[in-house]
Amino acid sequence: MSSVQQAVEVDRDKLMQFVFRAVDEVGATLNAALVVMGDKLGLYRALAGTGGLTPGELAERTGTAERYVREWLNAQAAGGFVAYDTDSGRYSLPPEEAVALTDSSSPAYLPGFFQTAIGSVIDSPLITEKARTGDGFGWHEHVHDVHEGCERFFRPGYNAHLVPEWLPALDGVVEKLERGALVADVGCGHGASTILMAQAYPNSTFVGSDYHEGSIETARERAREAGVADRVSFQIAPAAAYGGTGYDLVTMFDCLHDMGDPVGAARHVRSAVKPDGTWMIVEPNANDRTEDNFNPVGRAYYGFSTLLCTPASLSQEVGLALGAQAGEARIREVVQGAGFTQFRRASETPFNLVFEARP
Ligand SMILES: C[S@@+](CC[C@H](N)C(=O)[O-])C[C@H]1O[C@@H](n2cnc3c(N)ncnc32)[C@H](O)[C@@H]1O
Repeated sequence: MSSVQQAVEVDRDKLMQFVFRAVDEVGATLNAALVVMGDKLGLYRALAGTGGLTPGELAERTGTAERYVREWLNAQAAGGFVAYDTDSGRYSLPPEEAVALTDSSSPAYLPGFFQTAIGSVIDSPLITEKARTGDGFGWHEHVHDVHEGCERFFRPGYNAHLVPEWLPALDGVVEKLERGALVADVGCGHGASTILMAQAYPNSTFVGSDYHEGSIETARERAREAGVADRVSFQIAPAAAYGGTGYDLVTMFDCLHDMGDPVGAARHVRSAVKPDGTWMIVEPNANDRTEDNFNPVGRAYYGFSTLLCTPASLSQEVGLALGAQAGEARIREVVQGAGFTQFRRASETPFNLVFEARP
C-alpha cells in the first residue's frame, strides 16, 4: 500500500478566521453550562429588574459564593448575555434577555433549551461509543436534565401555539373538543401538551402515554398539581400498544421521529382513532432537502438528533431513525404507509411543523 500526500496550499487568513470562529464556539459550548448554572442558582432571576448589581450583591441575594459569581458574570458579559457598566462596576440583565432567561410564560423562554443541550452533552461519551457500533441509546437512559429540559423547552411553545393556532388549524377538531372528545396524547413525556389541552377543554377526556416510566410518573404529578387529574390519565406504554379505541383525536408532539417503528406507531393510531377522527403530528420544522436545513435551527436540531433522537430510535425495534430533520415528505410516507388517506400541513412555526392526518 502506498499513500500519496498532496501539498495543499493553506490560506493563513482563512485559517485564522476559522480558528477565531472556533474560539467563539468553545465560548458558546461553555456558556451552555453557565446558562444552566445561572438558571439553577437563580442568578438571572435575581439580576432581572434590578438597575444593576455588583458580584457581591448578586451573591448575597442568591446565597452563592462571590468569587464564582464574579467569574460567571464576566463570562456572561463577554458573551453579551449580561450588560456591564464600567463606571459603577455593576452588571445588569437587559429587558429582552430577562424575558428569554427568566420568564417561563414567554414563548422566547430559553433555559429548557440549554438544559436539554447540556443533558445531551453530559451523555455524549456514551453516544460516542454507540456511534462505533450503531447501537442505540434509549430516551429513558439519559440524565434527568434531558427529560426536564425537554419539558421546559417545549411547554412555552405549546402555551403560545397549541390552543390558539394548532388545534384550530385542524378540520372540525375544536368543536369536538368543546363538546367533549376522547384524546390520546402519545409520547407525552411530562404531559405538558396533555395538561394544556385538558385545561382548555374541560368537557374532554385525555389519555397520555409514553414508554418512559419516569416521565409518566412526573406527568401524573403535573396533572394533580394542575387540578385536571379527574379527566387526564397516563399510561406507561409504547406507541404501538397504548390502550383504548374510539379516539376523536390522537396527538404526537415531537416524538414520532424518536420512535423505532414510526410506521407501526402510525398503524396503531389508525386502529385506535375513530373513522372520522384526526391524528395531529407535531414535528421539528425542517425542509425536505438536507442542504436546505443548513441554518441555525437545523444546526441545533441535527445536534439534538445526533445525541438524542437518532440513538433513541436506533435503541428500539426496527430502528428507522427518521432523525429530527425528517421533513414533510418523509413524514407523509410514514403516515400514508400506515393507511391514512389524508395528510396535510396544517400549521407551522419557525421551530415546528404541524400535520393533520385522517383515516
Ligand atoms: C422529545 S420527547 C417529547 C415529549 C413530549 N411529547 C413533549 O412534547 O414534551 C420524545 C418522547 O417520546 C417518547 N418515546 C420515544 N419512543 C417512544 C415509543 N416507542 N413509544 C412511546 N413513547 C416514546 C420518549 O420517552 C419521550 O418522552
